Amino acid sequence: MTISKKVKDALSNASWVRRMFEEGEELKRIHGDENVYDFSLGNPNLEPPASLKKALKALADHPIPGMHRYMANSGYGDTRRAVADYLKEESGLPFNEKHVVMTVGAAGGLNVVLKSILDEGEEVIVPCPYFMEFKFYIENSGGDIRLVETNGDFSLNLSEIEKAIGKKTKAILINSPNNPTGVVYNQTSVEKLGELLKKKSRELGKTLYLITDEAYRRIVFDHIKLPIAFRYYPHTIRVTSHSKDLALAGERIGYIAVNPLCEEVDELISAIVFANRTLGFVNAPALMQRLVAPLQKNSVEVREYEDKRDFFYRSLTAFGYEVVKPRGAFYLFPKAPIEDDVAFVRELQSKRILTVPGTGFGKPGYFRIAYAVENRVIEAALPGFKEAAEKHRARKG
Ligand SMILES: Cc1ncc(COP(=O)(O)O)c(C=O)c1O
Repeated sequence: MTISKKVKDALSNASWVRRMFEEGEELKRIHGDENVYDFSLGNPNLEPPASLKKALKALADHPIPGMHRYMANSGYGDTRRAVADYLKEESGLPFNEKHVVMTVGAAGGLNVVLKSILDEGEEVIVPCPYFMEFKFYIENSGGDIRLVETNGDFSLNLSEIEKAIGKKTKAILINSPNNPTGVVYNQTSVEKLGELLKKKSRELGKTLYLITDEAYRRIVFDHIKLPIAFRYYPHTIRVTSHSKDLALAGERIGYIAVNPLCEEVDELISAIVFANRTLGFVNAPALMQRLVAPLQKNSVEVREYEDKRDFFYRSLTAFGYEVVKPRGAFYLFPKAPIEDDVAFVRELQSKRILTVPGTGFGKPGYFRIAYAVENRVIEAALPGFKEAAEKHRARKG
């Protein structure tokens, strides 16, 4: 065998998201792009703010000497200061640039954090359903994923989390707004999670980390305010990016922020900077660091995603689908009308509608719709969703 056993195993369980996306490409080749309704990949359909393109042109026209060179592994001081100022204003906590490390997206950031804190065989608790890449990121650093069930509405189930915490636990990784459910964890649950982690850290005599993947933080609806986990637990590490909020997914720019209230913040940041370098990222893309610094309070037109959510959610529930109403991100995670989610997704695929089975997120019986697509795609796909629901309703009698 030429490739590693671990990678071979991972490949044979290839990501459902990628599989559906690739099968979709083939369908598009046969039927034409406009006749395939692709809800497989969470790829923002909106464009970055116009101010970003202007700044990019200004930099190209008036380059800053040295702007393409290596820099400190943590990133430009100016950019980290801009992020820290934003976090300070948002949280009321004493953030400064030393608490921030710029990363190659949230994916790069998560790998860096996990490399920094995990020893071989330590566990990271992840509420399920979950973004499947988490498993690979955790295993990249020698850790093991420990899945815990969420409640029926996909909110945090604190008693399940409490039961899962043990000697091997090093961290819990939460993602809100959530991929694949779009669910947002409310203030009470985050506060209680903080209390639980404090209690368990005391009992176990060690530090448990709370890693918050906030890649969708600025994509929230219904005027809700997201809780700020930093306020409720000192050992909180936020990982986020501008892939979704500034629609820069292909540019790979994000950051890690460590709570200034964390006692071992200096050691932790040193480890994070080391891991950023030695995992081979070296530093986050230079051009992007310059461009996002002044845009910390900007985002794409979130209202557009909210309108899509409203329209799609209303239509699906009218057709009889059971769906928890998402409060953020750009995903819907309905229950499949039949037990076998893979069979149901294949059925939709026969109508040229591409979704991803819940099995791909550790939650069979459901399927994910990524609706960051043009409205005409949603409109054109609705009859297919309706037909599929009616067929199974008729069968059940
Ligand atoms: C929950 C979650 N975390 C992390 C990422 C990775 O994002 P990035 O493009 O910032 O690496 C994604 C991407 O879809 C995601 O859905």
